[in-house]
Amino acid sequence: MNVLVLGSGGREHAIAWKIKQSNLLDNLYIAPGNAGTYQLGANIAISPDDFDAVKKVVLENNIELVLVGPEAPLVKGIYDYFKNDNELNKVKLVGPSKHAAQLEGSKEFAKDFMQKYNIPTAKYKSFTLENLEEAYTFLDNLQAPYVLKADGMSTGKGVIIENDLAKAKVQIKEMLEGQFGDASRKVVVEEFLSGIELSVFVLTDGENYVLLPEAKDYKRIGEGDTGPNTGGMGAISPVPFANKQFLQIVEEKIIKPTIEGIKSENIDYKGFIFFGLMNKNGAPYVIEYNVRMGDPETEVVMPRIKSDLLDLLIATADNNLSNKTIEIDKRTASTIMLVSEGYPGSYEKSKQISIDENLPENTLLFHAGTKSVNNHLLTNGGRVIAVSAYGENIKMALKKSYQAAEKINFKGKNYRKDIGFDL
Ligand code: AMP
Ligand code: GLY
Repeated sequence: MNVLVLGSGGREHAIAWKIKQSNLLDNLYIAPGNAGTYQLGANIAISPDDFDAVKKVVLENNIELVLVGPEAPLVKGIYDYFKNDNELNKVKLVGPSKHAAQLEGSKEFAKDFMQKYNIPTAKYKSFTLENLEEAYTFLDNLQAPYVLKADGMSTGKGVIIENDLAKAKVQIKEMLEGQFGDASRKVVVEEFLSGIELSVFVLTDGENYVLLPEAKDYKRIGEGDTGPNTGGMGAISPVPFANKQFLQIVEEKIIKPTIEGIKSENIDYKGFIFFGLMNKNGAPYVIEYNVRMGDPETEVVMPRIKSDLLDLLIATADNNLSNKTIEIDKRTASTIMLVSEGYPGSYEKSKQISIDENLPENTLLFHAGTKSVNNHLLTNGGRVIAVSAYGENIKMALKKSYQAAEKINFKGKNYRKDIGFDL
C-alpha cells in the first residue's frame, strides 16, 4: 500500500517511522515532511492545507491511505473534500469529518457535546459581545482563577487564565471585540480545575476504538512549568498516576460516552481522538478534545506501540476496528524537545545541526523543525528535534534522552532539564 502522511513535525516523523515498519507498506510519502522524514520516504513540498495540491499528489503516486497529522486541514474539511471527490472517495483518509473536527475547532461545540453526553468537564457558559453583561454576572459567580477561551482556533494563544476578577472582565471584553480575530467573537468562560494534566489517545472508526498509550506533556518553556506555553517541551509515557483503575474510569466516564455521542449524532469520525484531561484527586475531567495526535506526545506513544500501525489505520478507515487489539511495549518512553533560542517567541532558523554518531542505545531522534540543504542539516523551526529514549523506568529513559540531547548541537540550542520532575 502507498501511504501519504500530511504534516512536517516530530509527530509526523514518529508516525512515518512507525508506518515504515509495516509489511503492508509499499511506498511512503510525507508532505511536506522534514529532514527526518526524508530518510524514510519521499518528501513532497506542498502544504497540507492546499487540498487541490494534495489531490494531485495522491493521484500521481497512487496513494491508497492518507494520514492527516495536524488539525488545520481537518478543521478545514479535508475528510469531506476526499469523500465528495469522485477520484478520491476510494482513498482511505484517516481523520475526522469537518463536522467532527469542531470538537477541536470550536470550544463551544466541544463543551456542548460534553454536556449533552454527561462527560465530566469544567462548568461553563459561552458568550458573545451582545451578552457581555451576562458574562460579567457569570464571572461574578465563579471563583478565581477565571478561565477564558476563544471559541475558535487561535494557535494555542486563545486560552487566558486570569486571577483578578476586574482584569478578567476587561479581558473578556477585549476578546469579544476581536483580540483573536473571529476566533474570539465567542468566548467560553469556565470554572478552573486544579489537578495534574495528562493526554489520553484513542484510534476510532466511529464505533469502536483502541486505546493507545497515555502520555504526560510539558507545555511551558521554563523549568518547574513556568513561563509561556509552547507546543510542548517533552513527554513521558506511561504516566504513573494513570494506573489501571484510573484508566478504567477514563474509559467508562469519558471515552465510551464520547464514542457513543459520536455514534448517536451520526458524526463521521475515523481517526485519532486526543483527550486532554485533568486528574482532580483521581477524578478525570476533559479540558479539551483534539482531533489528532499530540506533539510531542506522539514521540513517546509511537515507540510504545508494538502492533502494526498501518494495519490499525486501515481497519480504522474500513470500519473494522472491532477485530483489532493493540500490543503495547511495557517500557517507559521519554522525549526531550530541543528548541531554538527565543522559542516560543521569535527565533532564527538555518542554524547548522551536528549529531554525534555514537548516540546511546535505545534512543530515537524525531525531527521537528529541520531541513536538509546541500547535505547540511539545518534548523527550520522553533521545535527542532525530539530526543526519545526507552528505559525500564522514567529515570532510566530520561537519562538516555538527556545523554543523547548532549550529543546534538546547534547554535542557541535550548531544552528543559526537568522533564518528568512531577512524576
Ligand atoms: P486548552 O487549549 O483548552 O487545552 O487550554 C490550554 C491549557 O489551559 C490547558 O492545557 C490547561 O493547562 C489550561 N486550562 C484550560 N482549561 C482549564 C480549566 N478549566 N482549568 C484549569 N486549567 C485549564
Ligand atoms: N502537546 C499538545 C498538543 O499537541 O496539543
